[in-house]
Amino acid sequence: MNLSDIKALDQAHFLGVFGERCPVCFTRGEGSTLYDQDGKAYTDLFAGIAVNALGYNHPVVTGALIAQVQSGVLHTSNLYYVAPQAELAQLLCENTFADRVFFSNSGAEANEGAMKLACKYFYAKGENRYKIISADHSFHGRTLATVAATGHDYYQAPYRPLLPKGLFQIPYNDLNALKAAIDEETAAVLLEPMQGEGGVTPADKAYLEAVRALCDEKGILLIFDEVQTGVCRTGSLYMYEQYGVTPDILTSAKGLGCGVAIGAILATEKVASAIAIGDHGSTFGGNTLACAVSLAAMRELIGGNYCAAAKEKGAYLTAALKAIESDQIIEVRGAGLLIGIQLAADFPAGALMKKLLAKGFICGTAAGNVLRLAPPLIITTEEMDAFVSALKQELQ
Ligand SMILES: Cc1ncc(COP(=O)(O)O)c(C=O)c1O
Repeated sequence: MNLSDIKALDQAHFLGVFGERCPVCFTRGEGSTLYDQDGKAYTDLFAGIAVNALGYNHPVVTGALIAQVQSGVLHTSNLYYVAPQAELAQLLCENTFADRVFFSNSGAEANEGAMKLACKYFYAKGENRYKIISADHSFHGRTLATVAATGHDYYQAPYRPLLPKGLFQIPYNDLNALKAAIDEETAAVLLEPMQGEGGVTPADKAYLEAVRALCDEKGILLIFDEVQTGVCRTGSLYMYEQYGVTPDILTSAKGLGCGVAIGAILATEKVASAIAIGDHGSTFGGNTLACAVSLAAMRELIGGNYCAAAKEKGAYLTAALKAIESDQIIEVRGAGLLIGIQLAADFPAGALMKKLLAKGFICGTAAGNVLRLAPPLIITTEEMDAFVSALKQELQ
């Protein structure tokens, strides 16, 4: 099938939620390079929306996948013990604040589970706390509860009245707004330490520290959504480490599977102890295939010093981007290898992304006219240099 045949099938049969996609279909990948059907090479600076942390065809990921497939066991269900699931849970607990982990299939599902966990924590204590406060411009997923937690009218409007009660937003980085919003029914505050979809906007350190203190004072839970910022991308395994602010619950996905679908809820024993048999579950979540691949990938990422690599490469790329002299660039911000290039209002990020794609460079966008970069953590200096010069040409 050529690209126009695929496009015709997509337009005829696929739900029209993605509209006109970027005009390319990738068929092969190696390192940080994707190849289209005609063999044209593209340097990937977006990694499937911050997913492919180890790039394409990494021997650890491909090897774990092949070995698991050849065992014949892809899925057995959670009625039985799953060895890589147990080992992956242990690995995450040993390397984070968490005492217990639950695996889901996606970031949205992890956030749903995290919100359920917060509510159950107070239910078990006999307290009527069910409200979850999140931030304007946040993004937490596409299920009904996560849409209700996502601070964008664009995502919420078609689904009002939003089904789950008690989810509402306040301005990000605004402590007084949070103080005013908390009441005796508040269960949790749900925040991204750096908003990804919202424009690559980091939280202020003082804000997160004060949020933690406020949550402790009021006896409510702090949930960090690290679906996008997690798994070494911003320069530490999870970004909360850089802030020195530890949540009660954390959600992870994207890079966790390096291409296989997996999400995770990480929690302290204090919170997790509220969960009883049957409170939550999943058919596919934590399945053998996803956990075997994620376990291998996470061992490589944690053992192989990829956090330091993300930090160094991110600093290098950020410096190169900041050195570009162009009126079209308003600001370059982010952490590690999650970088946002804020563009002038009359210079649309979407159009720039398409021009760069035509030149063989894959990037993404974020809200507020931001060109977003989240390359594989294995990206080389030469690949970053080539991207920067392509970008410079487009900005001339
Ligand atoms: C911060 C954050 N939370 C949640 C999600 C939703 O994850 P998923 O698309 O895997 O459901 C995303 C996806 O972009 C995200 O960036």
